[in-house]
Amino acid sequence: QLFPPFANEPFTDFSQEDNKKAMQSALAAVRASLGQHYPLRIDGKAVETDGRITSINPAKKDEVVGTVGKASRELAEEAMQSALAAFELWKKVPAEERAGYLVKAAELMRSRKHEFSAWMVLEAGKNWGEADADTAEAIDFLEYYAREMIKLSETNERQPLVKLAGEDNKLTYIPLGVGVVIPPWNFPLAICAGMTSAALVAGNTVVLKPASTTPVIAYKFYELMVEAGVPANVIQYLPGSGGEIGDYLTGHPKTRFISFTGSKEVGLHINKLAAEQAESQIWMKRVIAEMGGKDGIVVDETADLEAAADAIVASAFGFQGQKCSAGSRAVIVESVYDKVVSMVEERTKKLVMGLPEDNAPVGPVIDETSYNRILGYIEKGRKEGRLLAGGGKGLDGGYFIEPTVFADAAPDAVIMQEEIFGPVLALAKASDWQEAIAIYNNTEFGLTGAFFSGNEQRIQTALETMHCGNLYINRKCTGALVGVHPFGGFNMSGTDSKAGGHDYLLLFTQAKLTSRRI
Ligand code: NAD
Ligand code: ALA
Repeated sequence: QLFPPFANEPFTDFSQEDNKKAMQSALAAVRASLGQHYPLRIDGKAVETDGRITSINPAKKDEVVGTVGKASRELAEEAMQSALAAFELWKKVPAEERAGYLVKAAELMRSRKHEFSAWMVLEAGKNWGEADADTAEAIDFLEYYAREMIKLSETNERQPLVKLAGEDNKLTYIPLGVGVVIPPWNFPLAICAGMTSAALVAGNTVVLKPASTTPVIAYKFYELMVEAGVPANVIQYLPGSGGEIGDYLTGHPKTRFISFTGSKEVGLHINKLAAEQAESQIWMKRVIAEMGGKDGIVVDETADLEAAADAIVASAFGFQGQKCSAGSRAVIVESVYDKVVSMVEERTKKLVMGLPEDNAPVGPVIDETSYNRILGYIEKGRKEGRLLAGGGKGLDGGYFIEPTVFADAAPDAVIMQEEIFGPVLALAKASDWQEAIAIYNNTEFGLTGAFFSGNEQRIQTALETMHCGNLYINRKCTGALVGVHPFGGFNMSGTDSKAGGHDYLLLFTQAKLTSRRI
């Protein structure tokens, strides 16, 4: 065995004084290095551009975290050519060696854990716990995919073949080619690291187009991979406009696959564009698209109501509801509805808003576009439900919005149907637990869900009938762990790729059968 068995990276206990001090000093060190410029990286070389993307601290709009280059189509073409050339060498590197780079990267990230988290506190507006969990998940992805690649590279191990006398048959999983990797901003390290490292450990090269609101932490990840030994031209670091270089790369005849995580709208657009055969293109592009959610928690009258209310609030407002897994709906049966609603109201009102760097439970949303969109949904919510908590803007100086709860929402209300991706929770009443499950299932999405009940028979029914990729019983619907809860959703939530699961790497390979007469 090349590496010790996989174990999840533990979360940091910030109630311990030494951990608190370590995080504070990481924040001070990162703050001292704000405002730098990070150029594109093509073929391992720094490439300057006329245009730049400015990344700001969403909690302090005037604070520039850094600037990054902004690629044009010409530079996207250069990046593609570099990735194509690099693929010819990288695909021949043994799987153990590729896996070794990921394990090395994990080791380096672990040794500078708080520094990576501090970048996310200042660039994404995560509080310490959320940022620490993001860094831990990134470490997990690196460690997990390294081990999965070793397993996948063992011939006939994954799918033992039926023996046939006189033949030696082998099934091997070979890489696809150049992949365009497009992560979202909301897990700016974990998802960026997971998507990129899975693609490259499987032997592909990558054009990485980071999200425009969190490109600096993506650059830090690129730098780390190079420090860990990955040849600098295996990943092209290519920030730029989604519409401009994103479409160009998706439509490129040499793009073999697109690994996307983001909104339903962009995911569907990419899927459509990728389905076209460009001139000289000789393959069907593979699209891995993990998209949005309208996740929810169902509570029946036999449930532990305190635990349910805790889970509803944690799932709705963790990282200001900006998780694909966020529980933005809760459906509660009539007989305990008022009780649970008032518990949720009470808990929400106790949430303290403040700066992420001070580790406040409630921070800002990511940018002005999100801020305006969420406030627009709150206005709709006022017409569709009874405002229980929040409903307004928060602190000045950043994109703060109060955690907002609307009760008595109808199942087909906009706030029960559309992904708001912000701190807005809709509560709906159901006559009984079966109706509650039906209301939960009344969505085009299907990412996460939770069922709270003390009744074993109902739990069994919920396990079978709640239609989502990640279903939890008597716990919150956020916080999937790598290797423990493979992650991905049904229906308009995407291709159910199950990131952090055993099947994930298959998506970045093609299986080749060789049969030799002996
Ligand atoms: P988004 O769709 O706006 O952007 C995602 C990425 O796509 C960004 O890097 C963006 O620059 C890029 N992009 C935009 N237009 C593009 C185009 N035409 N071609 C190529 N790339 C393009 O999403 P977001 O705001 O970054 O993230 C929030 C969304 O992501 C939410 O809907 C959330 O539910 C979803 N999400 C899903 C998962 C999951 O695992 N299912 C995880 C995290 C986030
Ligand atoms: N994987 C993240 C969660 O489960 C999105 O919350």
